[in-house]
Amino acid sequence: MQKITITKPDDWHVHLRDDFILEGVVKDSLKNFSRILVMPNLVNPIKNTQDAINYKTRIINAIKKLKIHNYFEPLMSIYLTDNTSEKDIELAFRSGVIFGVKLYPFRSTTNSFDGVTDLFGKCSLVLYKMEELGIPLLIHGEVFNKTVDIFDRELIFIENIAIPLKEKFPKLKIVLEHISTKDAVEYVKSAKDPIAATITPQHLFYNRNIIFNHGLNPHFYCLPILKREKHRLALIEAATINNTKFFIGTDSAPHSKENKENESGCAGCYSACYAVEMYATIFDRVGCIDKLEQFISFNGPNFYGLPYNSTKINLIKQSHIIPKKLNRNIEIVPLGAGELLDWKLVE
Ligand code: DOR
Ligand code: ZN
Repeated sequence: MQKITITKPDDWHVHLRDDFILEGVVKDSLKNFSRILVMPNLVNPIKNTQDAINYKTRIINAIKKLKIHNYFEPLMSIYLTDNTSEKDIELAFRSGVIFGVKLYPFRSTTNSFDGVTDLFGKCSLVLYKMEELGIPLLIHGEVFNKTVDIFDRELIFIENIAIPLKEKFPKLKIVLEHISTKDAVEYVKSAKDPIAATITPQHLFYNRNIIFNHGLNPHFYCLPILKREKHRLALIEAATINNTKFFIGTDSAPHSKENKENESGCAGCYSACYAVEMYATIFDRVGCIDKLEQFISFNGPNFYGLPYNSTKINLIKQSHIIPKKLNRNIEIVPLGAGELLDWKLVE
């Protein structure tokens, strides 16, 4: 039986939500990952340092209930709005609690109604401050505009926002989150440091056909939406070339089965529980299992200037099926429900 032992990975982009689902969701993440970078788009977004400290306390309380020892404290982010001030950024920096600031363009995704309406008009002073202090800007890189095709939102964001942003703030640390297109891969490769991108399991596994395969499949609806096969292939190439600019970020985003299978179904795929097995499966299927550790365990810390984790995980090559449903105090259909994975995490 084939077995690999690799450095325990981190998840550089995860949604944990809050309240009664927090415990179950955190447990899934900590089974797979050491450090987790927590997104701030709660129903009431985490907009400042105090919100983040309170949320972090709730997450740590959930971890304590699970009796997990030797865990890393969650890495917190705050949500950029039109009203975020330079003082907010200074406080965030001085607190030592805030790892990054998340940019959601207005209406771009789940809970983005507090998002930024005019980045250069409203947030320039804040961006200068972040550049000066070295705080990373984590970007949901899509424009929302009724005239822009949903499949082009990332490309238009790159052309209209990312390129001028890089020109105006060349030293700002930027992470384009959950990239979904060949255009984003090429842009990140060509742009001057410091810039990087995270890649999710769903964007490596699937192209957009899966959303419409024998009827509409809401469980594959996420934002950025899945794209054509040529984009998926470009993302696989980016993830497997040992380039520090590309690293793991699951974008695991739990929604109840009911809210997904709904006349207004929510965007988001829940992958925290099987994410490492999914990445291992896709890397192996394209003949690159030897590149897995670099992508999930080393490239992220390299970009963020952090040490590698000292603990290890073991994976064996063994088929198993992703359950059709999970109970995390709400019923959740995980990403790839009912499908085969080729690798399994073992003790
Ligand atoms: O599909 C997504 N779900 N994309 C996001 O950007 C947000 C996330 C969520 O919070 O549900
Ligand atoms: Zn996300």
